[in-house]
Amino acid sequence: MPPAFVPSKSPRMAKSAPTDPYRGKTVLITGASSGIGEEAAKQLAARGARLLLVARREDELRRVQQAIGAAGGSARIYPCNLSEPAEVDALVARLRQELVSLDVLVNNAGRSIRRPLLDSLDRPHDFERTIQLNYLAVVRLTLGLLPLLLAQGEGQVINISSVAALMTTPRFAAYQASKAALDAFSRSLRIELAEKGLHVTSINYPLVKTAMTAPTAIYKYLPQMEVAAAAAWIVEAIAERPARRTTALALGFQLATVAMPAPALRLLAGFYRRRLEKLRDKLNAAGESA
Ligand SMILES: NC(=O)c1ccc[n+]([C@@H]2O[C@H](COP(=O)([O-])OP(=O)(O)OC[C@H]3O[C@@H](n4cnc5c(N)ncnc54)[C@H](OP(=O)(O)O)[C@@H]3O)[C@@H](O)[C@H]2O)c1
Repeated sequence: MPPAFVPSKSPRMAKSAPTDPYRGKTVLITGASSGIGEEAAKQLAARGARLLLVARREDELRRVQQAIGAAGGSARIYPCNLSEPAEVDALVARLRQELVSLDVLVNNAGRSIRRPLLDSLDRPHDFERTIQLNYLAVVRLTLGLLPLLLAQGEGQVINISSVAALMTTPRFAAYQASKAALDAFSRSLRIELAEKGLHVTSINYPLVKTAMTAPTAIYKYLPQMEVAAAAAWIVEAIAERPARRTTALALGFQLATVAMPAPALRLLAGFYRRRLEKLRDKLNAAGESA
């Protein structure tokens, strides 16, 4: 069995002395085999954090581990299908054996489904598989790891969500419900466990250029955040520990939707319709569908 990670700081030090937010910290990132998770792992390893990388594809995790090692960093890999509750339980049991404590858990693994509701009449499984990975797996993993996260008197959970959970987006019913559930879980964690030393951050990203967005033709014509900039939000969240990080546009629409749902949703519907109409010529010219 590999040697256990030792606690990166004592509880007393955490309260009395300013410490480097990254060096020697143990950070677990799910979905670290590509995209935002891979890039965040590399950025954090470069700052001296010890990474635990979780995803299904072992070969891709090994590739990320080797890149981190080659750059002088430290990472271990934990292949796991988070959509399988038994695999999450086995991962939790293994981590509880190997670790004394965990500084940061980044719940980043996720799947997106973009499909109009009227094309989903016989597809309730779209809703089941998004909620399974984006919400239920996060709950299961987080509950299992809370003892490690609280072991030193302070720890952090960063849940990766989407602007879709804040500004209702057509064709994303399954995805945005799963991310809205995740946001609600983040708030529950925060309100119940802040006094125990748990810091909780929701990151609601706008479009980010990754494997997740690559197959959707229309995204090529929309502004997309670069993956390095998106990963930097996670790095900064570890130092600054905000409750939420997102865009002003998403926040504005969320406030409007809570206060005045009917006009806000009408405005949003018009916003997306106009955007689609503007892009339709480009998509048609390229032989692509919206
Ligand atoms: N890209 C965007 O525009 C965007 C916008 C808002 C929010 N987000 C969120 O950002 C997060 C990262 O997405 P990304 O854009 O970086 O996409 P990505 O490149 O497709 O990465 C998704 C990651 O999740 C892992 N994963 C998928 N299913 C899994 C499972 N069942 N068990 C374990 N790991 C699994 C994948 O690894 P394996 O295939 O190896 O398992 C991969 O590492 C997601 O939560 C996504 O919802 C993305």
